[in-house]
Amino acid sequence: MTRTDPLLQPYQLKHLKLKNRILSTAHEPNYTEDGLPKKRYRLYHEEKAKGGMAMTMTAGSAIVAPDSPAAFGNIEVYRDEVVPWFRELTDTVHAYDCAVMIQITHLGRRTNWNTADWLPVVAPSPLREPAHRAFPKEAEDWDIERIVAAYAAATERCKAGGFDGVEIELYGHFLDGFWSPATNQRQDAHGGSLANRLRATYQALDAMRAAVGPAFIIGLRLVCDEDWQRGLSREEGLEIAQRLVATGQVDFLNVIRGHIDSDEALSHVIPNMGTPAAPHLDFAGEVRSLTTFPVFHAARINDVATARHAVAEGLLDMVGMTRAHLADPHITRKIKTGREDEIRPCVGAGYCIDRIYEGGEALCIHNPATGREATMPHVITRSQGPAQRVVVVGAGPAGLEAARVTGERGHDVVLFEAASDPGGQVRLAARLQRRREIIGIADWRADRCRAAGVDMRFNTYADATDVMAEDPEIVIVATGGIPNTGFLDTGEALVASTWDILSDDVAPAQNVLLFDDNGAHPAMMCAEMLGRGGSTVELVTPERTLAPEVGGLNQPIYTKAFDETGVRITLNRRLTHVRREGNKLTAALYSEYSKTNEERSVDQVVVEHGTLPLDEVYYALKEGSINRGAVDYDALIGCREQTAATNPEGRYRLYRIGDAVASRNIHAAIYDALRLCITI
Ligand SMILES: Cc1cc2nc3c(=O)[nH]c(=O)nc-3n(C[C@H](O)[C@H](O)[C@H](O)COP(=O)(O)O)c2cc1C
Ligand code: SF4
Repeated sequence: MTRTDPLLQPYQLKHLKLKNRILSTAHEPNYTEDGLPKKRYRLYHEEKAKGGMAMTMTAGSAIVAPDSPAAFGNIEVYRDEVVPWFRELTDTVHAYDCAVMIQITHLGRRTNWNTADWLPVVAPSPLREPAHRAFPKEAEDWDIERIVAAYAAATERCKAGGFDGVEIELYGHFLDGFWSPATNQRQDAHGGSLANRLRATYQALDAMRAAVGPAFIIGLRLVCDEDWQRGLSREEGLEIAQRLVATGQVDFLNVIRGHIDSDEALSHVIPNMGTPAAPHLDFAGEVRSLTTFPVFHAARINDVATARHAVAEGLLDMVGMTRAHLADPHITRKIKTGREDEIRPCVGAGYCIDRIYEGGEALCIHNPATGREATMPHVITRSQGPAQRVVVVGAGPAGLEAARVTGERGHDVVLFEAASDPGGQVRLAARLQRRREIIGIADWRADRCRAAGVDMRFNTYADATDVMAEDPEIVIVATGGIPNTGFLDTGEALVASTWDILSDDVAPAQNVLLFDDNGAHPAMMCAEMLGRGGSTVELVTPERTLAPEVGGLNQPIYTKAFDETGVRITLNRRLTHVRREGNKLTAALYSEYSKTNEERSVDQVVVEHGTLPLDEVYYALKEGSINRGAVDYDALIGCREQTAATNPEGRYRLYRIGDAVASRNIHAAIYDALRLCITI
C-alpha cells in the first residue's frame, strides 16, 4: 500500500522535491522567546520533521514591520538577529529530509497598537477589525512604500536563514485588505478597480523577487472567496488568483475560503468539532483546476482517509493537516509503517487555537508533549528498570493516560473503573451531539491501553482493599471529582448540577436558572442542551464576560444556539440562596458592585461550580504508602523519578492526579499523568 498510497507520492515544487503530500500549514504557536524562534520553536518543528511530513510551514505570519506588532507571539522577521535562529531551525529540520518554509505578513488591522513600540495600526481604510479592536489609520503612500520594502527585506532574511521558501499571508491582513470591498474604501490608485486593489500586492511581489531572485520559492496563502456579502466575491477571488498566477512571480497557492475579522467568521475558516470535515476542500479543488497551478489547502482535514481522498481525487497537490499534527506529529511515520490506527486523533476541540487568542501558547487538549518537546516525549520508551505492578484507579483522561504510559513503559498495569466504559468526564463532555468527537480522547487511550496489555476492569468500584489485593508497587489515584454544589449560603439540597442535566439523571424543567461559577464548557453545554430541549433558560454568572475559559473559536457555536433558543445571559450576579416557595424555587442573586439583591422565581436551579475531589481511596491508602502521597514538585517539573520516602513501613508509592486533586481541565489531567508516569 505505501508504494501506491497517493499521500506518500513525492511532489515536485519548482526545484524542490517534497517527499510526500503531507504538510503542516502556518500556525503561530506563540512559542517565540523575545520575538525569536529559539529552542522551543525549533524542537517543535523538529518533531514534525521526525514524524515524516514533507514540509513544515513555520511561523504564523512572521511580522515584517514594527507597526505590525505581534498579535500572538509572532516571529519578528524585521530584525536581523532572527537570521541565526532561522538557520539553526532550518538546518535541524532539513536533517530529516523535510522541507521548511515560513509565512510572513504585515498584520494590518489584525493586531493592536498597545504593545511593543506603540505605533498606530495601519490598514487600507480606517475600518476597525472587531476581533483585535484597533482603530487603524488609513495607509498613506509612504506607509505602502515602507511596508512593500519591509516584505522584501523580510524575504531576504528568510532566504539567508535557510528556508526553502516563503508564503505571504493574504487573508484578513494588510495587503489583501486592499482586495476586499469590506476593507477598502479608497478613492486613490489603490481603490476601485481590481487592478488598483492589487497594486500593493504586485509591488510587494516585485520587491520580493528583486530581493531574492527568481529561483527562491514564494507562495501565497490567499483568500479566493470571502464568503461574505460585503466581502470579496468568489468571482473576484478566483480572478485575483488567476491574475497573481499570471504574474509569474509566485510558485504555489494555499487556498483559503472565508473571512477572519470576527470570532464567528474565523470559526468557519478553522472549523472545530461538530462541523463537516474538509468544508472548503472542493473549493480548493476548483481553484486547482481553474489555475492548473500547485494548490495547497488546510481546513479540518484531520483524518488520513480525507487527506488521501484530497490527493487521489486531484483536489490538492499538498494536504495541510495542521491541528492533526499538533495532536500527533508522527502521522506520516505511522502511515508508512502500517500503523494508521495508532494516530492520536485531532478531535477538533480548538483548545490549541483558543489559547493563542487568550495570550497563551498553543497546547493540544490531549497531547501535552506538543510544544513541550524539551521535556515531554511524543513516543513512550520502555523503562530500563524492572517491570512494576501498577494500579490505576479511575479511567477518566488522567487515569487512562497513566495506564497507557505505564503500560507502554512495560509495567504490569491494572486499571479500575467504576463505570462500564472509559472516559469519566470526557463521556459527559461528549453528551452534546455536536461535541461527541471529544470521546476520541478516551477511545484512543483505551485502544493504546489494550495494545499495551493493560488489564482494564470496568464496572468495578475499587476501594482500598481492592487496590491492596493487587499487591501494587505503585498506586495512581485518578478518581476525578464530583460536582461542587456546596457553595451556596442556603439551598444546596434544592439545586441540580450541570452533570445531572448533561447525564440525563435529572429531567430539565420548563423555567431554568443556570448559575455558572466555573466559566468553562459544562454550563455552556448545559445551557445549549436545555435551550435545545425547549426550556426557558437564564444563564447567570458572576463574571464580567461570559464563560471566560471558553475561547473565541468555541464561543460562536454556543452563542448561535443561545440566540436560536432564547437563552438569556445575566453577568455580574452571584447566586447566594435558593428556597422553595410552593412548587417554585426562588433564586437570590447578589451584585457585588451595587451591593443589591434580586430574585428570580423558576422551576429549576442548575449550578456549575467545578468539582470537588473524589479522594476517599487516596486518603484510605495514604498512610500505608512509602511517600504518604507526597509529590516532589521539583522532580515532577524536572522529569526526574519521584524518590520521596517518608514512611519506612510503606508498601507502595501513592500518587494522585487530575481532578482527584483539584478541579482543572482535560489537558491538566493528562499532563499530570504523562509527566509523572514517564519517570516510572
Ligand atoms: C494555533 C494556531 C495558530 C494559527 N495561526 C495561523 C497563522 O498565523 N497564519 C495562518 O495562515 N494560519 C494560521 N492557523 C490556521 C492553520 O494554518 C490552518 O489553516 C487551520 O488550523 C485549519 O487547518 P487544520 O484543520 O488542518 O488545522 C493557525 C492555526 C492554529 C491551530
Ligand atoms: S487542541 Fe483539539 S483542535 Fe487543537 S490539536 Fe488538539 S485535538 Fe486538535
